[in-house]
Amino acid sequence: MEKLIGRKKIAVFISGRGSNLKSLINYSKTKKSLIEIVLVISNNELAKGLNLASKYKINNLTISAKNKKKFEFSALRILKKNKVDILCLAGFMRILSPTFIKKFSKPILNIHPSLLPKYKGLNTHYKAIKNKDKFSGASVHIVNEKLDSGKVILQKKIKIIKKDTPKSLEKKILKIEHQIYKKAIIKFLTSF
Ligand code: GAR
Repeated sequence: MEKLIGRKKIAVFISGRGSNLKSLINYSKTKKSLIEIVLVISNNELAKGLNLASKYKINNLTISAKNKKKFEFSALRILKKNKVDILCLAGFMRILSPTFIKKFSKPILNIHPSLLPKYKGLNTHYKAIKNKDKFSGASVHIVNEKLDSGKVILQKKIKIIKKDTPKSLEKKILKIEHQIYKKAIIKFLTSF
């Protein structure tokens, strides 16, 4: 039997494709992984990431409540029931309320497709190109009450080249995201 003692219990919130979830699952399956993914929650029943969770036999569910309070109330109950140590947001396109963050009272991490503090929110690749930035990248940060504003744990940057479009940049940055989320978790667990 695989030894899981000491591994942190992770829940992942998703809204869609789930490629970052996949990178976290891959890491969690490695021998030296510091985490175990115990739960995946989506706010969208059509999220492809849910199939991925099922494929790897990870407990997963959709909380489709449009009402934010209802969503957060149900999510909190399930997180507590599963004794989750850390919540990772991976393409979760909802903003968590300060009440949720306070009540959960454990660390929440998020991956964001820009070099924070630049370009919080949506359309980050479009903004980087429009502003003729030389670099863009991805950041993993701690979630606080303000959107995309908590302490950055890890960033990686890449050069923007002349022929880049928001689509091509998105593709390149997604690759970086898949490398840095697990590294950020390791850094967070070992040196923060
Ligand atoms: C990723 O690029 C992630 O950084 C971004 O959504 C995408 C989800 O892809 N998240 C945000 O913009 C959050 N503000 P995935 O579902 O394949 O992981």
